Amino acid sequence: MYVLGIESTAHTFGVGIVKDGEVIANERDTLKPAQGGIIPREAAAHHYRLAPMLLKAAIDKAGIKMKDIDVVGFSQGPGLIPALKVGYQVAHLISEKYGAKVVGVNHCIAHLEIARKYTGLEDPVMLYVSGGNTQVITYQGGRYLVFGETQDIGVGNLIDKIGRKMGMPFPAGPKIENMARSGRKYIKLPYSIKGMDVSFTGMETFVSRIIGREKSEDVSFSLQETIFAMLIEASERAMAYCRKDSLVITGGVAANSRLNDMGEVMCRERGAVSKRIPLEYAGDNGAMIAYTAYLMKDYRQRDLTIKPRYRTDTVEIKYR
Ligand code: ATP
Ligand code: FE2
Repeated sequence: MYVLGIESTAHTFGVGIVKDGEVIANERDTLKPAQGGIIPREAAAHHYRLAPMLLKAAIDKAGIKMKDIDVVGFSQGPGLIPALKVGYQVAHLISEKYGAKVVGVNHCIAHLEIARKYTGLEDPVMLYVSGGNTQVITYQGGRYLVFGETQDIGVGNLIDKIGRKMGMPFPAGPKIENMARSGRKYIKLPYSIKGMDVSFTGMETFVSRIIGREKSEDVSFSLQETIFAMLIEASERAMAYCRKDSLVITGGVAANSRLNDMGEVMCRERGAVSKRIPLEYAGDNGAMIAYTAYLMKDYRQRDLTIKPRYRTDTVEIKYR
């Protein structure tokens, strides 16, 4: 059985294909705005422009034909309306033309499922960290429950905003990570954890004021140490509370090796395990949508529209 998945929630347009649940193609392209943040209409234009080429590349990589596709999955949300519409339209076109069944996938749950698959950890606490999202998640009673989350912006978004102020192009995550390696001085930054939730706007204001006055290396280093400590503290609390003994970090920011190191230290100290997901599946990709659509393929879905504010904990998980 072949399942094709389309990712189009934000900057990235991705097409993945799984054969009987194993990834056989994963093609993508990410819009990188020259300056400033993302403009939804520009993201959609990027996706429309690249969709045919990426579809063909994925199909060729898989060594199949369009008509071989049994199921086509797409990201229903959360995301930007114009960008989401592209994935929706492409999926429905493929369905009409080639008879594939359409499956709507929650983007956040796709990040979680691909992480479970590639770490082999069945029931971990999951730290989902990306541009738009920052959530600590556990599975309970047929749903992925959000145990803690950001009260304002996502951690990736914070990193990108600070990077932009330091003159780095989007996405700033890998550049800040690199720069932080040469940081020597720890600058005390606001540490903001409220119950299980974290908050980043105070950090944004504070760090904006010290850019230019402190060395970029030290700012990057201090920023990473502080925000990752907050995230790992919230994750540890969720593990203790839910009595779960494994941790998985997923989403674009999971590409950061310092964050993974800190997760590993925390887990080791409490006799728990943490495993890293392959880099290819950390950021947005079509394979995670295809894989999650594969898991969902046997269930009926009433609503196949786009859901810009689709929440992780509203999805009933029937395959676990
Ligand atoms: P979502 O809809 O899940 O919020 P997204 O649109 O933000 O997804 P992702 O690809 O999941 O897309 O995440 C992108 C984010 O990951 C960007 O903010 C980017 O700076 C960040 N990122 C990428 N690599 C690293 C890294 N090495 N260290 C820190 N952050 C990183
Ligand atoms: Fe994402």
